[in-house]
Amino acid sequence: MTDQSKAVPRHVAIVMDGNGRWAKKRFLPRFFGHKQGVDALVRIVQACIDRNIEHLTVFAFSSENWKRPSDEVSGLMGLVLAAVSRYLARMGAMGVRIRIVGDRDAVSEKLRNAWNEAESSTQHNRKLTLNVAFNYGGRWDIVQAARAALAELKQAGALIPNQSVLINTLPLLEAQASSEIENIVTTADRLFQFQNTGERADQ
Ligand code: FPP
Repeated sequence: MTDQSKAVPRHVAIVMDGNGRWAKKRFLPRFFGHKQGVDALVRIVQACIDRNIEHLTVFAFSSENWKRPSDEVSGLMGLVLAAVSRYLARMGAMGVRIRIVGDRDAVSEKLRNAWNEAESSTQHNRKLTLNVAFNYGGRWDIVQAARAALAELKQAGALIPNQSVLINTLPLLEAQASSEIENIVTTADRLFQFQNTGERADQ
């Protein structure tokens, strides 16, 4: 084992896919797969804390996912609400800071309130930052970045944004600012490791 392979990453990202395949393999409805996905996430949070990983980003629901059948989408929304009420206190006690990255305008008021509550009640925790990308999309992220950069420019009276203004205003990148994502894991068991060189080593 090389020294590099023993090193613990500071920031890990997980794409929460494979739930449907998990359920199908067991002749269960897809919803069971999503439910298992949430329980797996709780175990992963604990595993990250045990290994002193500082940031965990999960890509939970993309803006593309609205195109899924309406009963699956509403089932997922209900599952998220249930997960917040079931696990929020435990996450707080574990020292987890929760941050939501994504467009909240399209989600129900109930879910928006739950996200706000999750963020505000855990804002001072520092053991692990859990970034939940929800209703997140690249276009949305870029629009946010452009808006924030324009607002900063207006305030500074400047005309041309410098690179750091643009980078610091990207919401998801802002969550990564103290530590860029080093590993992206998908449930298909592929591990992409991002190295400082910016190259990707598929493992
Ligand atoms: C993709 O699996 C998974 C989703 C679209 C939703 C995942 C989100 C959750 C389970 C809720 C997360 C909750 C919180 C609180 C963060 P898939 O159906 O595409 O599976 P497949 O790749 O096997 O088809």
